[in-house]
Amino acid sequence: MSNKPENSAPMINRLVIIGLGLIGSSLAVAAKEQGLAKTVIGISRRTSTLELALESGIIDRACQSLESVASELDKGDLVVIGVPTLTVPSVIADCHQHLKDKVTITDVASVKGSIVKAAADIYGKLPNQFVPGHPIAGSEKSGVEAADSQLFKDHRVILTPHGADHCEHLRLVSTLWSNVGAIVSTMSVEEHDAILAATSHLPHFLAYSLVDTLASVGDNREIFRYAAGGFRDFTRIAASDPVMWRDIALANRESILSILDQVMDNFKTLRGAIDQGDEDYLMDVFTRARDARNHFGKLLENKALQGPMTEKKINYRVSPGGDASGSVRVPGDKSMSHRSIMLGSLAIGMTEVTGFLEGEDSLATLQAFRDMGVIIEGPEQGRVVIHGVGLHGLKAPAKPLYMGNSGTSIRLLSGLLAGQAFDTELTGDISLSGRPMGRVADPLRSMGAVIGTSPNGTPPLKITGGQRLSSIEYLMPVASAQVKSCVLLAGLYADGTTSVTEPAPTRDHTERMLRGFGYTVNVDQSTANLTGGGALSATRIDVPADISSAAFFMVAAAITPDSDIILPHVGINPTRIGVINILRQMGAQLSLSNEREVGGEPVADIRIQYGELKGIEIPVDQVPLAIDEFPVLFIAAACAEGTTILTGAEELRVKESDRIQSMADGLVTLGIDAQATADGIVIVGGELGGGRVLSHHDHRIAMAFAIAGLRAKGEITVEGCNNVATSFPDFINSAAAIGLKIQVETHHD
Ligand code: S3P
Repeated sequence: MSNKPENSAPMINRLVIIGLGLIGSSLAVAAKEQGLAKTVIGISRRTSTLELALESGIIDRACQSLESVASELDKGDLVVIGVPTLTVPSVIADCHQHLKDKVTITDVASVKGSIVKAAADIYGKLPNQFVPGHPIAGSEKSGVEAADSQLFKDHRVILTPHGADHCEHLRLVSTLWSNVGAIVSTMSVEEHDAILAATSHLPHFLAYSLVDTLASVGDNREIFRYAAGGFRDFTRIAASDPVMWRDIALANRESILSILDQVMDNFKTLRGAIDQGDEDYLMDVFTRARDARNHFGKLLENKALQGPMTEKKINYRVSPGGDASGSVRVPGDKSMSHRSIMLGSLAIGMTEVTGFLEGEDSLATLQAFRDMGVIIEGPEQGRVVIHGVGLHGLKAPAKPLYMGNSGTSIRLLSGLLAGQAFDTELTGDISLSGRPMGRVADPLRSMGAVIGTSPNGTPPLKITGGQRLSSIEYLMPVASAQVKSCVLLAGLYADGTTSVTEPAPTRDHTERMLRGFGYTVNVDQSTANLTGGGALSATRIDVPADISSAAFFMVAAAITPDSDIILPHVGINPTRIGVINILRQMGAQLSLSNEREVGGEPVADIRIQYGELKGIEIPVDQVPLAIDEFPVLFIAAACAEGTTILTGAEELRVKESDRIQSMADGLVTLGIDAQATADGIVIVGGELGGGRVLSHHDHRIAMAFAIAGLRAKGEITVEGCNNVATSFPDFINSAAAIGLKIQVETHHD
């Protein structure tokens, strides 16, 4: 999408493009289409190219040399050098000779080190007016005939600016690229060249080399005749422009040699493994590579090179009204998905998981175990196969384990990592980095673990391995399933029997699933215990739909007249059904059918219809049972008649965001009387208006306000909804299926 305000004057006076190859001519046509320059001037030595470019309207004016137009150029004019990499220095020399220092210059070469060096040599020092650039776009086609105005759309352009002095030049180049649809990022020249050597240059040389090898084999016609999809996929880029790639090979020599050496070493080892029939090695390499490809698949499909600087921000624009009817199978339970990977990895044998939640949180757990050497196949449509390594089979990860946004990952993992022979470090995103970890570090330390946190008790967690853990009897000060699970998982590695007593019932998936893996866990009222030193044996796990995700659609139906929603196969573990109890008490019509037990967990289909809701005092004993569902329950409260009062829920203040404050602020913005208290909230039901609310990067806040749209009088914009992907990646489609009208807007920050 163009950032240029409609009807505004072109931002560039004259856009001069030297070299009308694929990139140059595509930039010319894109700039013309967007009205970004008063005049687009094309420079090429070939008259036929210029004629074609003029005829097809790609440029306004044609010139055969820079010299012929240089005297006209001044501040606000932009010269783009689009010639092959090895020719760029001679064009820079022309620029030096003919251009005023007010004229902005950029280039599009795939290598930056040699270009920057040439510019510095020619000018004496790198000139402020020069902003080196590289659009990561192209195709195996070349020339002005292939010009494509969409070529840069959603593709990354890397600029390697070299100082603060050339701000206005940088701004001009950066705005040009973003206006033709590109995602602009900046990095150092060295970083650029190393990254591109690995991700772009190497694949091209491999493709050229493979095709050339096969082409020189005796009867190569036969080989090519039978070459199928794999060959075609792998070698498409061997049809690229040889001049361009010769230039790149020579211009980025050092970085390319370094990555080629690594690949050649790996080739040698692979050859050895094939020669020796080393099945394990082959299986390891192929699985690791396939998993990495799948893991990065989303990024690769995005076509662009990703980086945190240019992460797109997602907002929801929720239109007022809409139906709430239909049947939706919400994704797999997050708590159980985490635990299935953890226990499956520590078990002996292969565990098959179905219904696994492919959300960012559970994928963070999955990735952590891969980083510790566990082979995990999938996920593919919710199916994961874990090649368990046993309680003592994990390997030291090469780098800190990144837990993203996920409190469950970091807290549960800290327990089982405290018992390992190796050191680990656990890190997370900005939200996780502010969450309290003392609650797990304290009991672990009293078991003998050595575990460091930041001075205020938050991540990163640094766990020193090789400690002998001893069992404890732990009375938990907070009702937290994460703490309980952490201590029990550490207990697997401790001498003796570890017991945990909770002040109120919390979700018991760890206890149930450990039993499913054949490990004895005794539960007596509020105390669970287990004895260390046993073993887990692999099993099959069918993860039911997550009641915490279902809750959004339960409230959707509860607040929308004439609604009727069915949510099949939802987990209704008694420690999770606070949302059902609370909604029923408020007057919602809710029924369960097809109740059954799947792999030790109760499951049912839930049907919910509109009911006139009334405000209630939420019973304190329901708080731990509905701990994740409060954001959306507050929306129900806002639509209810009368006042809803929540107390005893201070835990909500330390979730992915301070959920009491986040919700109170958003509700007030929408015109509801909502008052945060130290341990809860008081909400007076009323008319919901439209407005702009913040999700505070909290998935459940974002989805809760999206549901509010069903009863709002105006449009609601929810800012910062990226983290919905942590627990409910397909939320938008599921919401649309029941009749919500949500538009997703993406912005580059
Ligand atoms: C979870 C426990 C709860 C819950 C979280 C998942 C778990 O956290 O809020 O979303 O899977 O054990 P606390 O243990 O901090 O209450």
